[in-house]
Formats: sequence, structure tokens, C-alpha cells
Amino acid sequence: MRVLVTGGAGFIGSAVVRHLVLVKGYEVLTVDKLTYAGTLTSLYKVDGHPLHRFLRADICDRSAMVEAFASFRPDRVMHLAAESHVDRSITGARDFVETNVIGTFTLLDVARNHWEGLPAVDRAAFRFLHVSTDEVYGSLGADGLFTEATAYDPSSPYSASKAASDHLAKAWQRTYGLPVVVSNCSNNYGPYHFPEKLIPLMILNALEAKPLTIYGDGANIRDWLYVEDHARALDLIAERGRPGQTYNVGGRNERRNLDVVQHICTLMDALHPQSGPHERHIAFVEDRPGHDARYAIDATRLETELGWRAEETFETGIEKTVRWYLENEWWWAPLRQGYDGRRLGLVGTGREP
Ligand code: NAD
Ligand code: DAU
Repeated sequence: MRVLVTGGAGFIGSAVVRHLVLVKGYEVLTVDKLTYAGTLTSLYKVDGHPLHRFLRADICDRSAMVEAFASFRPDRVMHLAAESHVDRSITGARDFVETNVIGTFTLLDVARNHWEGLPAVDRAAFRFLHVSTDEVYGSLGADGLFTEATAYDPSSPYSASKAASDHLAKAWQRTYGLPVVVSNCSNNYGPYHFPEKLIPLMILNALEAKPLTIYGDGANIRDWLYVEDHARALDLIAERGRPGQTYNVGGRNERRNLDVVQHICTLMDALHPQSGPHERHIAFVEDRPGHDARYAIDATRLETELGWRAEETFETGIEKTVRWYLENEWWWAPLRQGYDGRRLGLVGTGREP
């Protein structure tokens, strides 16, 4: 099995690559541009592994993608490369439109040409997994869950660009017959998470006695999934998901942001008391523009059709995560030097030209 993974030097992509190479024994070509969010240190466990190759390339670069498909001849594509941070998309959306929309279009089109040239038996087995987010569905009220039938209603430039890419992926399946499967997942957390996202940012700010910035009143709800549970789900969906179908992925772990941050403080108090007590650093700050109130995933299709179950609860996963950041300063310190955790994504505080 040869799998081409885009975005494999990022947070979720690197978990997918580790799973495919080290657990499944697949041959993997990681394609990644190495933006600020991608780092080869996240792939050190497969560095030099005979089943793993790395190509630094931009998915918008058509000739580089044609060459990658021609030389690697993938049986499967798992497309994770994206600009992923909502706050950055509010400050400037250009990179989001280029990578998430144009890049996905380029990859779909190159994959289609590759797929059309395959012998019939390989054409039938080929899969293109387009990895997306629950944010395409917009915001929930107090009740209800996102199902695969929920109408798209994205709020941020990030989620709008992901919604556009989902539509392109589905169109390539319906129009050209490319065997595309789409996944829409809730918030991930775990090791190798770039410290701009809520959970790693709060762990490192607590460690360094910096403000634990809560947007608005902290009542917004996210549905948290440990990244390795997501990686296993993606492998299963790529393996057994039906072409043309969408699979929602989520761990049934809804938490208010304030409760997440307080939980991190409690763990930090126990595991790193010398920088505590940590809750005194909680600071309520101006809300995110267009802040979605609540996300919650109904993963019934994935659970019943493909037999997936999350292995981690929020309590087990968050403790593993805090411990990992405390033990792996070598990984996050260089990233923290490039981005020090300053507030991003307030309207009027910086625009791209
Ligand atoms: P990430 O920002 O950590 O990693 C993205 C990776 O893509 C980086 O390694 C980056 O270098 C690479 N990349 C960016 N632009 C590229 C380009 N033009 N060409 C090639 N590589 C490029 O993101 P993540 O959190 O790992 O998310 C991965 C995917 O999963 C994204 O598509 C995201 O929308 C989706 N997703 C993320 C979450 C989450 O909670 N993080 C949840 C659901 C879905
Ligand atoms: O739902 C899936 C999405 O989850 C993915 O598609 C995105 O790629 C991923 O970044 C994530 O988006 P969020 O916007 O939900 O994640 P973030 O970590 O930025 O924020 C989580 C919540 O915490 C959100 O309600 C905003 C809030 N927040 C965030 C930061 C960085 C704070 O209150 N304070 C903060 O400092």
C-alpha cells in the first residue's frame, strides 16, 4: 500500500504518517510545504525509515504534484495540507484561499489524471480522502449535533475556504467519478500541536506564567478528540469509506473553553507546582470576531458503519497531552521563538496588503 499524505509535517498529518508507517507498515510519501505550522521534528520517529519519504512541495504547484504522483504512484491520497488557524484567517485570508481552495483543486485535478491512467483494478481500489472540519457546518445552539446531512454555514474565512474545498472534492467525485471520501472532524488536541491553538497555548502560557486568554466569557463549546484517535479514524475511512460519502468524526467530548483551561490549570498545579497556582493567570479578553458558539459531532455513521471508537476520554487525553508538553520542550521551544503567543485575529489590528 502506497499512501501520499499532504500536510504530513503538521499536527494531524504527522500523527497519520506515524500511524501508517509504524503501525500499518504502509509506504508513505509525505508532501509538505513546511509553512510556519509544519516541522520535520514532528516526523522524527519515521526519519530514515525505509517506508517513509519526504517531499518539500506546495500543493498549488501543479508540476511538482504531477511529478510526485508519477514517481510515487500512490494507491491512496490522504489530503491534510491546509492553513488551519481561524485567528490567522481573520487577520489575512489570502493563504487560506490559495492553499485550501486552489491547492485542493490542483491536487484533485492531478489525482484525477493519475487515476484515469491506472488499470481498471487499481482504479477501483484508488481512494482520495479529503480531510475537513466540522466548522463548515457553522454554529450550533444549546441543543443538537452536526450530522453528515447538516447544511453548510461557515462563519470564518478559514471555515469558508474549507467548505469550498469540500464542495470541490465532492464535485470531482460526482462529475469525474474520482473515488473521493470526505471526513469532517471536531477539535483535535494532543502532542505536536502548534502552540497557537487553545490547548497547547494554555499549557505553555501556564508554564511561563503568561496570561491564559479566554475569548469572551469562555462559554463557547468545542468537542475535543485526541489526535491519535483521529489518525486511526482517517485510516479506517480511507480504507473502508464509501466513495461519495462523508464521515463525521468526533469523540463526544463537549467542553466549555473555560472548563478546558481550568482543567489544564489543575493538571499543571499537580504536575508542575513550581509555576502555580495557575488559575490566577486566567484573563478574559475581547471575543473572536464571528466566534461560533458550539460544535458537537454525531459520529454514528463512523461508529456503526466502520466500527470506530475513540480510545481516549478527554480526561485521559488531556493528561497525556500536558505531560507530553512538559517533557518535550526540545520540540516546542523553537516554534515558540517563531511565534510567542501574541493575540491574533482581531479585526483592525493588522491587514495583509
Ligand atoms: P496544521 O496547521 O498543524 O498542519 C498543516 C500542514 O500543512 C503543515 O505541515 C503545513 O506546512 C502544510 N501546508 C500548508 N500549506 C501547504 C501547501 N500549500 N502545500 C503543502 N503543504 C502545506 O494543521 P492540522 O491541525 O494538522 O490540520 C490538518 C487538516 O485537518 C487540515 O486540513 C484541517 O483543516 C483539518 N482539521 C483540523 C482539525 C484540528 O482540530 N486541528 C480538526 C478537523 C480538521
Ligand atoms: O473544529 C475543528 C477546528 O478546530 C479545526 O478545523 C481548526 O483547524 C482548529 O484550529 C480548531 O479551530 P478552533 O477555532 O475551534 O480552535 P482554537 O484552538 O483556535 O480555539 C478553540 C476555542 O478556544 C475557540 O472557541 C476559541 C477559543 N480560544 C482560542 C485561543 C487561541 C480562546 O478562548 N483563547 C485563545 O487564546
